Amino acid sequence: MSFEVRITPSILNADFDHLDAEIAKIAQVSDFIHLDIMDNIFVPNLTFDFQRAAEIIKNCPIPVDAHLMVADVDQVAIDYAEAGAASVTIHVEATTDIHKTLTEIRRHGARASLALKPATAIESYGEYLDLVDMVLIMTVEPGFGGQKFMEDMMPKVRATKNLIGDRPIWLQVDGGISLSTIDIAREAGADTFVAGSAVFKADDPAAMVQELRSQAAIR
Ligand code: DX5
Ligand code: ZN
Repeated sequence: MSFEVRITPSILNADFDHLDAEIAKIAQVSDFIHLDIMDNIFVPNLTFDFQRAAEIIKNCPIPVDAHLMVADVDQVAIDYAEAGAASVTIHVEATTDIHKTLTEIRRHGARASLALKPATAIESYGEYLDLVDMVLIMTVEPGFGGQKFMEDMMPKVRATKNLIGDRPIWLQVDGGISLSTIDIAREAGADTFVAGSAVFKADDPAAMVQELRSQAAIR
């Protein structure tokens, strides 16, 4: 049986001063660029402001998967959809109106996605699955690249996969994904893989994306 796998490299650990060149290294072999937006409130780290992020989205040769780690995400999410992000991920912990925000993201032409921090259980969010195109289960505490993969999140990945059932909803994992952990996440049900340091710290980032893809596709 064929298994559809998506690799979405995170540029969090790329060279921010030469982002176009960094993105060009992997664009041809990647499904999306994963763009981590941090506000130093929701997480203790800061990345791009909206203006810079909008430029990245505009210039990116492949679709952008925006992962919003910001407090009060509801309006910000709509701004990112309007700026042309192909997928917009909001954290359940940062929204006051999940239903409305997911609906608005889709209305603005983007895929809508819901993320859960490690301590947040999926069970209370099953009712929103008909409004999403992807669920993101964090496999590290959001904020930084290069952290250790939390294998203890796999029961949650499995539970999410069960809740999704046969709906065409992608299941993404983010944090610590590498050649030595991608199998574990795939086995639990993930099909969409963020990889930051594994890709950008590799000697050949494009080759690493392809290795991750073939590793994940083996069943
Ligand atoms: C962490 C970010 C991740 C991060 C992943 O908060 O959401 O996307 O860039 O980096 P690695 O793959 O190095 O764990
Ligand atoms: Zn991320």
